[in-house]
Amino acid sequence: MQGLMKLAQPWQILFLSKYYLINSMNQENIFREKILKLVKKYYSAKPEEKFIPGKTYINYAGRVYDKKELTALVDSSLDFWLTAGRYAREFEKKLSNFLGVEYCLLCNSGSSANLLAVSALTSPLLKSRQLKPGDEVITTACGFPTTLNPILQNNLIPVFVDIELGTYNTDAAKIEAAISKKTRAIFLAHTLGNPFDLTAVKKIAKKYKIWLIEDNSDSLGSKYRGRYTGAFGDISTCSFFPAHHLTMGEGGAVLTSNPLLRKIILSFRDWGRDCWCETGCDNTCGKRFAQKLGSLPYGYDHKYVYSHIGYNLKVTDMQAAIGCAQLEKLPKFIAARKNNYAYLYIHLKKYEKYFILPRRLKEAGPSWFGFPILVREAAPFSRADIVGYLESNKIATRMLFGGNLLRQPAYQNIKYRAAGKLNNTDLVMNNLFWIGVYPGITGEKRKYIVDVFDAFFAGKLFRGFCETV
Ligand SMILES: Cc1ncc(COP(=O)(O)O)c(C=O)c1O
Repeated sequence: MQGLMKLAQPWQILFLSKYYLINSMNQENIFREKILKLVKKYYSAKPEEKFIPGKTYINYAGRVYDKKELTALVDSSLDFWLTAGRYAREFEKKLSNFLGVEYCLLCNSGSSANLLAVSALTSPLLKSRQLKPGDEVITTACGFPTTLNPILQNNLIPVFVDIELGTYNTDAAKIEAAISKKTRAIFLAHTLGNPFDLTAVKKIAKKYKIWLIEDNSDSLGSKYRGRYTGAFGDISTCSFFPAHHLTMGEGGAVLTSNPLLRKIILSFRDWGRDCWCETGCDNTCGKRFAQKLGSLPYGYDHKYVYSHIGYNLKVTDMQAAIGCAQLEKLPKFIAARKNNYAYLYIHLKKYEKYFILPRRLKEAGPSWFGFPILVREAAPFSRADIVGYLESNKIATRMLFGGNLLRQPAYQNIKYRAAGKLNNTDLVMNNLFWIGVYPGITGEKRKYIVDVFDAFFAGKLFRGFCETV
């Protein structure tokens, strides 16, 4: 090639360089195609899992994927962009379109999304609506710790309200009764996918001019009055841990339709910087060296100007690539969760004498995360009995996360206010468990689950308990 170049005319050199460039690009694409084809073959060569009742463990949740996720992951790794890139942008656009929210910002977990959501509200850019240390945020103690933690991490005071049995959400009356002069926000999760009363809670937030954050981690695809949850609050968050409705391995998202909040969340996510250039871009604002900010010298590189005390909670493009493939399947995942829930409900209804079964508001269309069962206090067996029986028959069970978080070792010395007694929260901690409804639970698996419940109630164990009552 070098010899040829020496002899050639300039126009010939140009032609030859273009030829070699195009040729090597083609080569790259050809190899990429071959690799991706091989990945598909690799996936197809995997032996199918056979369900053996009583032997195969039925998980409460898990990854549901096929060759599409694997090829997307490898495709993105061949890009070797590594940090958030084309797949992250695609996912953000598609998820915000799906939920009907203006902006979506990906981050590395649901916990990070919650941290970003609460931290954003402490920004001075919000002026009179900025949350300051000592301000109160209404939440529940019956849930996942990282809904609560960002409140504490930002030196805010959580105000705990009790939940209702059946829905495991709080209600508007309890929230309104808990409001004080210091209340500045409400931060609630839709428990196990079951939407809380968004109309009433939004009304309260509006009336008292307080922020509403929805932790939508367990409820992606749930609807309230025909609109997706996650589209009601000032901010909402998602988790893409493998247990959730869709997964990236680790991952999360923060959504908002408020452009100022988007700007603040982006800043907190990306080291606290003022600049909003995409990775790999410079001078998007056109004033990179032409601003005076803080007490920095005029023209200090905007890339290194920090307007918040932020983090780096960005996602990688490999995670986002998996997410894009998963997002295509979301409607099917939601339908499968609803079907599994309905099947369990119909078959377990006959045991209502012993169990409080889940309940939803009439305006709510939950995309269930799990199927909660509360063992009634008068039941002739304990939660440990039924959980032990299910687990010994290879059916996974879970508690409602931290039960009453206030009773967890980590929270013994926190500053908080309890608005009333948390009796139902305690009851959930003592008597509730949940089982899975995720799409990995096939028809034969769910039939087996109800058979095991039937066996528990028909079996010696149960008769033995009844005799002693
Ligand atoms: C309601 C809720 N919020 C937040 C999280 C945290 O998500 P992640 O595990 O992605 O940090 C979870 C985790 O399962 C959750 O259930």
